[in-house]
Amino acid sequence: MFTKTQLTQYTTLYRSGKPFKTGAVIVDLESNDFQQNDTIPYFQIEEENNKINFIYKMSKEDVVYGLGETLGALNKRGKIYRFYNTDDPEHTPEKMSLYGSHPFMILDGKNTFGLFIDYPSEIIFDIGFTDKDILKITVPSKDFDLYIFDSDEKLSIIKEYFNLTGKPYIPPKWAFGFQQSRWSYFSEEEVRNVAKKFRETGIPCDVIYTDIDYMDSYKVFTINKDKFPNYEGMVKDLKEMGIKVIPIIDPGVKIEKDYSMYEEGKEKGFFCVDENGNDFVAAVWPGPTHFPNFLNSEVRRWWGKKYKLFTDMGIKGFWNDMNEPSIFYTPKGLDNLIELLKSLEKNKENAGIEVFLARETLLKIANNREDYKSFYHKLDDGSLINHDMVHNLYGFNMTKATADELKELCPNERYLLLSRSSYPGLHRMASIWMGDNKSWWEHMIVNIRMLQSLNMMGFFYTGADVGGFGADSSAELVIRWMELGAFTPFYRNHSALNTRPQEPWQFDEESLNIMRDIVRLRYAFLPYTYSEYMNSVKESVPFVKPLSFVFEGDRVKDIEDQYMYGESLMVAPVYEQNKKGRYLHLPEVKWLNWTASKYEERNMKVYEPGDYYIEADLNEIPLFIKENSLILLSEPMNYVGEKEITELTVIGLVSDHAVYNYYDDDGTTYNFTKGEFGNLIIDITKADNDFKIDVKSYDPVNILKIKKIHFEIYDSDGSVIKKDMIIG
Ligand code: NOJ
Repeated sequence: MFTKTQLTQYTTLYRSGKPFKTGAVIVDLESNDFQQNDTIPYFQIEEENNKINFIYKMSKEDVVYGLGETLGALNKRGKIYRFYNTDDPEHTPEKMSLYGSHPFMILDGKNTFGLFIDYPSEIIFDIGFTDKDILKITVPSKDFDLYIFDSDEKLSIIKEYFNLTGKPYIPPKWAFGFQQSRWSYFSEEEVRNVAKKFRETGIPCDVIYTDIDYMDSYKVFTINKDKFPNYEGMVKDLKEMGIKVIPIIDPGVKIEKDYSMYEEGKEKGFFCVDENGNDFVAAVWPGPTHFPNFLNSEVRRWWGKKYKLFTDMGIKGFWNDMNEPSIFYTPKGLDNLIELLKSLEKNKENAGIEVFLARETLLKIANNREDYKSFYHKLDDGSLINHDMVHNLYGFNMTKATADELKELCPNERYLLLSRSSYPGLHRMASIWMGDNKSWWEHMIVNIRMLQSLNMMGFFYTGADVGGFGADSSAELVIRWMELGAFTPFYRNHSALNTRPQEPWQFDEESLNIMRDIVRLRYAFLPYTYSEYMNSVKESVPFVKPLSFVFEGDRVKDIEDQYMYGESLMVAPVYEQNKKGRYLHLPEVKWLNWTASKYEERNMKVYEPGDYYIEADLNEIPLFIKENSLILLSEPMNYVGEKEITELTVIGLVSDHAVYNYYDDDGTTYNFTKGEFGNLIIDITKADNDFKIDVKSYDPVNILKIKKIHFEIYDSDGSVIKKDMIIG
């Protein structure tokens, strides 16, 4: 029932039926030879009606990694995951679906292999939930591609996955700065004040988001002129301050006569249709809307060109939201609800369980699978496909529309592009944030785990809403989350309507001061963060990695709350309420601990491998530099690129030899692909009671402006030697 083709030494594609071309894979499969093949390595196959189950008997030591945007532990055993993109703002532990579908996993244990199923509708991974030793993957279709990555090395499996689906997206350098958001800043004045406040308080900031209320009646590609009389002027003025504005973009087009998006879309037949061929109606923020048919390339071009409204203002970042697509209700759903309420009214004197059941029905009115089954996409070849069959591709194609046209609108310029919904392959052109979390301590550990799982999928540039989106946040929670966020690539504080404001100045003076120091620390790390990010993409190695991807042994497999941030730095955030420190494990090598609060202050200590309790006051985050590796810092700035970086500080623990390959480029274009980047190879060797330092530079187009490097090199006994070196 399968055909098979070997793609590389490690990767084999097993094809069932005639899969839909999702766009996840960049390798051309058309010219490949496929041979008949009825088995899949490792798995027993069970056919059941129109479903196929893949069954694997897990051994005790097997650990399952991957699956991207899912809840639960980093080791995915013990839970069911359902890939069907869902707008669910309640990220409680039992939930099986979130906004993205990422059916790529790595099983590491008795056997080690990777698996990716390219199929754009529901897939279920039951990983030892129903039966604790059984991994059962259910694909309710006969048409899909299944890839097996047969390697013993987790990192080579990931490399193979990137060879297949593409390398991670590279945002502009300023995207590594701090970002502030709120649903909503309701007026231009409010946005301007937020920007001013950042500069007044001396808290670095690169981006402010405008959420749905900048639009006129939530109509996509419009601006509310009452509240934002001069959006373009605001964008320009903030740019002068070094702050970029990013608007939210929602896919639903309001049904309103004379609204150009609606009129054009209707006239050109660009919307999804119902079973009678009429434009499908579903309600989101603006009330009843039509959904653009993003699976059609002409529609994508039409939609993508609309971003010109903003690119003409100089905007280089976009936030595509609600693109699962989220449905608040359909007219049919609303009618059913009204009927239900009417029947309740009739029986209102005695209503008991009926009210309880009505509440359940009310909840089901949103994002109902039956609604997703009731509309269609017209594909490029003119055929119609039911939305449910390709559900997980909607946000992917909306974001493809954006990314493809941004390349036309702003040639050779990088952009910051976030999508809420995703599918494999989206990581080549954009990234995702983790959606509507809550201001709960429990969601910090969710953030830490998901960060690692998403990096395995190529979503390197990711992070959660810092401080939590829903619910009110305490100062302590925001501070601890700002510390964690300082060591995630996407660093944005965002909160929901009607929740307690959580910008850094919303609490008290002491909290403000702590948060200023944290954000400044983030900016001090910029040379390291950017260099590591770019090197990770180049090498196809996750930027954030679990310790078990770097170190051997069973002990590290259990560590989910510490992670490698680049190659040199291990981060161990404090993520529990009222804690003044935490337990942690230091694997295999010596570690230079910096419990960091301020960029300017050092609080360093060398540790042998082992288990420790490390103190970390509210203003401190435990960081660890790996033995024989280096980190780089520079003076913090108000925003990325405010000043040229002319001096670097290099910190490391060198017991014999460390090499750091520092990378930099212009940060805004793709000229690096033509060799326009600079490298400093910093080589430090321990020699008696001293260190021999050698710095070589490769800088063909004069990117690097470094004139001086300060070295702070620690020896295993904790002693430090400080030296300065003039460069060039
Ligand atoms: C849902 C998004 O996840 C959230 O971040 C945003 O603030 C709201 N939509 C309102 O646009």
